[in-house]
Order: sequence, then C-alpha cells, then structure tokens
Amino acid sequence: MRTWAVIVGAGSGERLGLVGGRRKALAPLGGEPLFVRGLRAFAAAAGVERSVLAVHPADLAAAREAAFSLEKALRPAAVVAGGARRQDSVANALEAVPGEVDLVLVHDAARPFVRPETISAVAAAAAETGAAIAAVPESETVKEVAAGRVRATVPREALWRARTPQGVRRALLYELLSRALVDGLEVTDEAALLEHYGHAVAVVRDSDENFKITTPGDLALAEALLASRDAPRPARATETQILRREGGRMRIGEGHDIHALAFGRKLVLAGVDIPAPKGARGHSDADALSHAVVDAMLGAAALGDIGHHFPDTDERWRGVGGPELLAEAAKRVGAAGFRPANVDATVHLQAPKLGPHKTEIAGRLAAALGLPRHRVNVKAKTGESLGPVGRGEAIAADAVVLLAEA
Ligand code: CTP
Ligand code: MG
Repeated sequence: MRTWAVIVGAGSGERLGLVGGRRKALAPLGGEPLFVRGLRAFAAAAGVERSVLAVHPADLAAAREAAFSLEKALRPAAVVAGGARRQDSVANALEAVPGEVDLVLVHDAARPFVRPETISAVAAAAAETGAAIAAVPESETVKEVAAGRVRATVPREALWRARTPQGVRRALLYELLSRALVDGLEVTDEAALLEHYGHAVAVVRDSDENFKITTPGDLALAEALLASRDAPRPARATETQILRREGGRMRIGEGHDIHALAFGRKLVLAGVDIPAPKGARGHSDADALSHAVVDAMLGAAALGDIGHHFPDTDERWRGVGGPELLAEAAKRVGAAGFRPANVDATVHLQAPKLGPHKTEIAGRLAAALGLPRHRVNVKAKTGESLGPVGRGEAIAADAVVLLAEA
C-alpha cells in the first residue's frame, strides 16, 4: 500500500499570532520551524514514502527555502500554497500526490509531537477500513453553555477529540473533496467529510502529547516539553550497569614511545605499512604506536614495561611485529586478571599525513587486542615543525589504555 503524508500548515495562525515574525507553521520551536517536527515523525514512520507540505501563500518562498535545506529523508516532495479553508489546503496538496498512491495521511503542521507509532497505526487502520483518525477520549466534564450559563452536562462516555493524522484512501479523499466543493460543504477535518457522505471512519487512540499548538500558551508548553526531553539524563542504563559492575575494578595506564626516522627504513604503525620516504629506526619494526600501547597496557596492570617483557637482547622478540607484541601483552595482562576496555592513542609525525590511514590503523590495533572497533581511537598530530618530530627526525606515540577486571 503506497502511502504519502499531506502536512497542512496553511492556516493564518490567528490565535497564536506571529512568533519572531513568522506565522504558526514556520514559528520556531526547539530552534527549527514548527512543521519540521511533523516531517521528522512521518519520515520515521514505517511505510510512509514521501510528504507534501501546504503553507500559507505568503510563506511559500520561506517554507520552500527551509524545507529544501533539510536533510534528504525529511525533505517534502513538494511545498504548495494552501487555500482559504483547511479543506482547500488539503485539496491543493493532494494535487501534488501522484495518482499511484493508495493512501494519504493528512496531518496538522500544528501538531509537532505526533508519534511515528500513531502514524503507522492510523495508516494500518485506514488501509483496512478506508479511513481512520487519531483521537483521544474526552477526559473532562463537558458542559453545554449558552449566554454565559450552563445549560446542560453532556455525557462524555462517547466523546472523543479528533486529532491528526487522518488517513483516507487517496481516490476517496479526492472524490469527497470534489463533492464537498460542488455541495458547498464545509468541514474542519477529513473525518467530517467521510461521515457526511456515509463512510466508516476507524478510531486509533492517540498519544496524549500530540496536542495542537493553537495559542501562545501551547507554544510555551511545547518548548517546555522539548526542554525537559533534552535535559541531561542520568547515564544510560548500560553505562550505569558497567560502572556498577566494574567500578573500582578498572585500571588506567599510559605509554610513550619515540623512534628516529631514517631513509631506507619502513614506517609501520600497528602493523600497517605507511608509504613514506623515511621509516623508523630501532630493533624489531620500530612500531612506535604498538609499543606505546603495549606500555600503557602493562602499566595499567602494574606489570612493568615493554623492555622488561620483550627485551631486545632476547632473540625471541627480534623482528617481532607490533600486533604480535600487542597480542602477547594482552595475554600477559589477561593472566593478571585484566582485559582492555578501551584505547586512545596519538601518533606524532610531521609527514606523511596519517589521516587516510587512521581507520585501518585503529582497526588493526583493535583486532590485535581482541577489542570491538569502537573501543579504539587513533589520532595524529604533526610537530608543527618544532623539535625532533617537527623537523622530521622522529616519530613518537602516546597511548592510554583502560583495563577492566576480566
Ligand atoms: N490549515 C490549513 N489551511 C487553512 C486553515 C488551516 O492548512 N486554510 C491548517 C493549519 O495550518 C493547522 C491545521 O490546519 O496546521 C489546524 O488548524 P488551526 O489549528 O486552526 O490553525 P490556524 O487556522 O492556522 O490557526 P487559527 O485558527 O488560530 O487562525
Ligand atoms: Mg483555524
């Protein structure tokens, strides 16, 4: 079932008035035009292909500029001028919906808090019955009032407040809007059209927060709701759990290494060959990054240093590559009851630029340590032409490693 959204924001917004010189649909909410939040909810709802936005004719240029600068997934297929009545705005927008579309979900731009789940539920119900609306049961006592006096209390059991989205089969909506035009019928929502012409309308329970922004008080409430959502929350449950589990059983270590650079040597970082005119001089492959990380790991476990574990006087370690040393160090740290939790390192090198290699280097480090890729970070810095690194005489590396109790 091909489904499109029609977002109507073409009213004059009389009751709200201008906000920052903008009419309601473009009024700023949470730092962006009001209508954007609706677009985002529809983009997140499963099965909704595209949207069409109707705005006040005087807002057309501004709305187009705002809408077409949005990221692609949110961008409406068209921004059209609405009409004098809501139903005219819907009719105008419908012209921009392709004829192959089966279902249209009409939504008020003035309802920025619609949930993607509600949109999907309305779409599913409308696909089944031909039409469906989001609504909430009336929760307050309703009075009939005349001339400032209560005339009667209206039983509220059967009363619901109609909201949007309102989903209707495209062809049916098109037909009924045309008939209304001929019959001079005025309606305030799509459901009223269907009721008038004898079509069934299913009701989907809406979420409470999908209220319509009508007055300045509503907009203030909306801002407050957003602010409370954005307020910093306590650490995510998983992080809290990790801290609870591992707090006090973590160890941090730092490591540093430096090697002279010379022509005719290879430049190797975490086992990755970097094309460069000069390479690092030293015993084994002089992989400064791996050596710094090994030192940081051993340091965190209070196991001494790289020279103690892998002395260059020992034939066993001659010519052994960085990744193998890393794996061996991880094993020794493991024997002491720890496993690496994350690694952060900086390579200091004047040239060449390491940017293009950083991802591969970090990947190799992670693999050597048996860590997920997202727990390893590698940064690069030049020496700003200062000191041995800056003059291209040396490569250096710094690393910190966090160990958790295994
Ligand atoms: N709407 C529309 N075209 C109209 C009238 C209304 O697209 N000719 C839209 C509004 O932009 C709004 C929704 O229908 O998103 C619900 O209408 P309402 O809340 O009444 O908004 P306004 O008509 O703009 O506000 P007011 O009645 O205060 O002028
Ligand atoms: Mg209105």
